[in-house]
Amino acid sequence: MRTHVVIIGSGPSGLLLGQLLTRAGIDNIVLDRVSKDYILGRVRAGVLEEGTVGLLREAGAAERMDREGLPHGGFSLAFDGRDHRIDLLGLTGHQVMVYGQTEVTADLMEGREAGGGQTIYEAGNVTPYDFDTASPYVTYDKDGTTHRIDCDFIAGCDGYHGVSRRSVPQQALTTFERVYPFGWLGILADVPPVSHELIYANHPRGFALCSMRSQTRSRYYIQCPVDEKVEDWSDDRFYDELRRRLPAEHAESMVTGPSFEKSIAPLRSFVAEPMRFGSLFLVGDAAHIVPPTGAKGLNLAASDVHYLFEGLREHYAEKSDAGLDAYSDRALKRVWRAVRFSWSMTMMMHRFPDAGAFGQKIQEAELDYLVTSRAASTALAENYIGLPY
Ligand code: APR
Ligand code: PHB
Repeated sequence: MRTHVVIIGSGPSGLLLGQLLTRAGIDNIVLDRVSKDYILGRVRAGVLEEGTVGLLREAGAAERMDREGLPHGGFSLAFDGRDHRIDLLGLTGHQVMVYGQTEVTADLMEGREAGGGQTIYEAGNVTPYDFDTASPYVTYDKDGTTHRIDCDFIAGCDGYHGVSRRSVPQQALTTFERVYPFGWLGILADVPPVSHELIYANHPRGFALCSMRSQTRSRYYIQCPVDEKVEDWSDDRFYDELRRRLPAEHAESMVTGPSFEKSIAPLRSFVAEPMRFGSLFLVGDAAHIVPPTGAKGLNLAASDVHYLFEGLREHYAEKSDAGLDAYSDRALKRVWRAVRFSWSMTMMMHRFPDAGAFGQKIQEAELDYLVTSRAASTALAENYIGLPY
């Protein structure tokens, strides 16, 4: 087989890139090691920046999002027993779209199938070769046979645990990492959200987040120790702890109900530099991970895809490699700004076991300054709605 671009990974990064390439007439094949259903069974975040929304529309995968997505013009920070609204629309003129990543992925898969894009699921032992040459190729195992795809470029959209970053000579890679001393215990339940907007809570018992997928489906999280076990958390215990971390008005009005998904996610910040190695480009989680506090994971994947797609489009349409040559530096500049924001919001909203009395007072002063200064609130808002591409 031969194609222009082999995309390793059928998550949001790979699917969005695949759709943009297909619509630009650039042939591509997507490979994933798991099944389509397995991918759609993953529960991830649900806040889209306007840039991500625009790319989904450009990819022809936004019809359901535009119908069912929830535009949000603000969110609240809850501490000291009350809410403090951050007026995204008033402060920046922009808003975010609340729409689950699972839905984004399903819409992209549907668009790819409708457009005739080739996706090979349950492809075993996917391996990129000769990406330090102009004739790279990828092999994979399927139905007892090893297949080879010759291509011009390989997009490593295979996430943090993927093969692409691991295939790069380690001396060519520099990584940066911060692991946080807690995780997020999250549930999904078909109950109406406690508020019409998201609530990020900083409480002496720990962080909590009230989010949603629709007007009838809520997504709730509480900070928990990294060694916590999901099986130790009944729904009742979860809701009791969540309500203890929220202002009374929300604790009293919360509608509870059986969860149908419950999981614990660790929190880390991670960046691999550079994001290009000859004909191989790292995209999305393959190159960087952010704590979900700033809702930047999917949105950074989208801006990576934008930079890489523009570079590939230029290569094929204008015979210019300027975009491809600039990909890593352009992507990393926006990645580090979002990594900084996600780190700062995580530091501000969570309780750290080793903060000490001084650290706690600093956190309280930061929150107080943030909600009493238009300049500080605007800085938070412009990062949350997404910095420019
Ligand atoms: N071979 C083939 N496919 C692989 C391999 C491999 N060796 N390793 C991983 N994959 C696939 C996974 O099965 C997954 O479907 O790559 C895909 C990677 O998808 P994601 O992990 O979702 O990464 P990405 O597409 O960059 O999306 C980033 O997902 O994890 C969230 O918070 C993150 O919202 C962000 C988004
Ligand atoms: C979610 O809805 O899952 C969500 C929303 C905002 C975040 C993190 C997760 O910052």
